[in-house]
Amino acid sequence: MRLTEFLLLLELIIFITIFIPTMVAFITGAPWVPTPTARVKKMLELGEIKPGHKVYDLGCGDGRMVHLAAKLYNADAVGIELSPLVYGWARVRNFFLKSKSKLLLRDFRKLSYKDADVICFYLLPNVLKIIGPKLAQELKPGTKVISYAFAVEGWEPVYTEPKDPAKNLSRILVYEAPTSFPK
Ligand SMILES: C[S@@+](CC[C@H](N)C(=O)[O-])C[C@H]1O[C@@H](n2cnc3c(N)ncnc32)[C@H](O)[C@@H]1O
Repeated sequence: MRLTEFLLLLELIIFITIFIPTMVAFITGAPWVPTPTARVKKMLELGEIKPGHKVYDLGCGDGRMVHLAAKLYNADAVGIELSPLVYGWARVRNFFLKSKSKLLLRDFRKLSYKDADVICFYLLPNVLKIIGPKLAQELKPGTKVISYAFAVEGWEPVYTEPKDPAKNLSRILVYEAPTSFPK
């Protein structure tokens, strides 16, 4: 194989494995905008996490939420990320932080959350419309769902942490299965 052919093949592989999934994550879920650490800590506190609890972050970005859930609460924390670039960064970060959290390079819409105790996310309303009914069907009673900034349509929060404009922090909505789900 000549060098030009090799480079073309390499470009095609990069396009298929990195660029396309990154664009899908961007369009279908949300671009990677990290939750401020102070809000991550508050979300975990509101989750009332016990050691061994299964905690998911749907669209985990650099993995900060699941890293702190494992570190501060000894949770069995799993971050799911679709963009290979962001996922790669989360793996590097986890390696240097010696994090006990797990990271999956997957589309969170295609997994089951039946075993979840706490689910966190920072996602746009268009994807919350899809993930909301799925979670309402799957989650066991008592599972907490904690959303940064955006509400899940039709769900009733059990608690709302108000936004803090002075610190540029958005609100946090806490939901609980099945109390919060549409009747
Ligand atoms: C706004 S960021 C939030 C990052 C992280 N949860 C945090 O709080 O710092 C949303 C993340 O969701 C990821 N994402 C979007 N759609 C996804 C999907 N269908 N499956 C997995 N990850 C997805 C994006 O790549 C992005 O990193």
